[in-house]
Amino acid sequence: MTTTSTPHIDPHGVEIAETILLPGDPLRAKFIAETYLDGVQCFNEVRNMLGFTGTYRGKQVSVMGTGMGIPSISLYTYELIHFFGVKNLVRVGSCGAMQEGMDLYDVVIAQGASTDSNYLHQFGVPGTFAPLSSYRLLEQAKRAADERGQRTHVGNVLSSDVFYNADPDAMEPWRKLGVLAVEMESAGLFVNAAAAGVDALGIFTVSDNLLTHAQTTPQERQTAFKDMIEIALELA
Ligand code: ADE
Repeated sequence: MTTTSTPHIDPHGVEIAETILLPGDPLRAKFIAETYLDGVQCFNEVRNMLGFTGTYRGKQVSVMGTGMGIPSISLYTYELIHFFGVKNLVRVGSCGAMQEGMDLYDVVIAQGASTDSNYLHQFGVPGTFAPLSSYRLLEQAKRAADERGQRTHVGNVLSSDVFYNADPDAMEPWRKLGVLAVEMESAGLFVNAAAAGVDALGIFTVSDNLLTHAQTTPQERQTAFKDMIEIALELA
């Protein structure tokens, strides 16, 4: 599928791969491209939401920032899917753990993404849709993580619209339902993928723990982030 440009993506002739890694931070997209990909070309600079295409072990793969929150990831992934033919969308990011036994730097793989956002309302389902990740991508990522000896937690995450909650106990109802961790984007990604019949996954590094209030430093996050990226790149 080829569209020349959309309101938020102008690839100026550079191809976008069928498989894309999606960090929130566009500079992280640049870091991933420069560190892991060969033959890198930048395909987007609109609003500084940098996107790159290159190869990883001979397979074409793209990486692009999404910004923070469901509105931002949803518009970029909608354009990637519907105008540029992207088929496998893998969010890579950080999350706040909320269950016992989850350590900083553990990897979380989202099987599903619950949400407090109203984004799903537009689909008009007469009930509650459960945004799930792609089983195919989930299985591949879990296998790649196991082969690396990487500790993982697979389950439900919460894609929240709120980072600074007015109520300090706001996460408690989600925690009681076994939700593993909070982040801010995956439910928008998963429902967009479901609506279009394409595959999506979310892989996260635990950057903070809501129970113990432990936090990583930005520098530590950079290192831990590598395990998650290398698992995600196996999906290319
Ligand atoms: N991403 C990383 N930690 C988070 C948190 N505590 N809340 C929301 N998103 C996050």
